[in-house]
Amino acid sequence: MVKLPNAATLVQNNSAENVEREEPWPALIFDPLHQLSDDNMMVIGQIGQTIDGRIATVTGQSKYINGPAGLLHLHRLRAIVDAVIVGVGTVIADDPQLTVRLAKGAHPARVVIDPNHRLHPDLKIFNDDGVRRVVITKQGHAYPAADGIEILYLPTEEDGRISPATILQNLAAIGLRRILIEGGADTVSRFMHAGCLDRLHVIVAPIIMGSGRASFCLPAIEHMDQAHRLAVHAHKLDNELLFDCDLAALRQRRTDSSALAKFSALCFQSG
Ligand SMILES: NC(=O)c1ccc[n+]([C@@H]2O[C@H](COP(=O)([O-])OP(=O)(O)OC[C@H]3O[C@@H](n4cnc5c(N)ncnc54)[C@H](OP(=O)(O)O)[C@@H]3O)[C@@H](O)[C@H]2O)c1
Repeated sequence: MVKLPNAATLVQNNSAENVEREEPWPALIFDPLHQLSDDNMMVIGQIGQTIDGRIATVTGQSKYINGPAGLLHLHRLRAIVDAVIVGVGTVIADDPQLTVRLAKGAHPARVVIDPNHRLHPDLKIFNDDGVRRVVITKQGHAYPAADGIEILYLPTEEDGRISPATILQNLAAIGLRRILIEGGADTVSRFMHAGCLDRLHVIVAPIIMGSGRASFCLPAIEHMDQAHRLAVHAHKLDNELLFDCDLAALRQRRTDSSALAKFSALCFQSG
């Protein structure tokens, strides 16, 4: 059996020394992310997947599909955004910290979408470490959160889901405009399907899982001409491959000032 690069050890052993030795950031990858779109936002989706398009095993385990280079890339993405968004499924499966530990840069705000109040207050995402923590949930019932956690109560669509555009409008209203949608498959797919991503970074690790959670869950299509064909640049990250997809052509209008005023009135802080 091939031994994979030990990404877990890299994370555990991370120190200021590792960060000091960090290589220059590749401008071809990061320069486009420093620009804002015409709505003054930059929204990046990321997926770390196997060659056969899996982001987790059938039991939901995903630590660690990507090796050291892929993980460093993820931490650099976190370091350049105002906020990282994850779905509740990811927090339940991984209890992630969502901090920047392998690169230079500040920790982003941590945002979780938890419409049905499934999270426990002891999870790491809620650690009171001076970083903004935001919960996005449905209107209707008070969210049980500790003091200092910002709760955005947002309206749902006919399908019972909160539209990604509404989520982004409300995050912009509280000053969060550079956003990383870190996972999982359900959450990234919803933002992509809604035309709410500027870019998508897919990091392919040299692994075949053979079963497990697929990277995307989008509505079924019948013909290949209905599939998304993306403008893409490929970059080698050690033994992994980054597909940097420019989704500007698929992007829908995200910021509507009247909607922004309406929805921002629904935002308030707990405690
Ligand atoms: N390899 C990677 O890059 C990577 C990254 C992150 C996570 N993961 C893995 O991915 C798995 C979790 O992914 P997942 O797809 O099952 O779950 P997920 O995307 O983390 O969370 C999905 C849930 O979040 C809520 N949600 C998200 N967007 C919403 C919206 N617009 N409106 C309303 N609710 C919304 C819903 O909660 P309700 O169910 O309560 O309605 C939804 O079922 C885990 O195994 C994790 O390890 C892998």
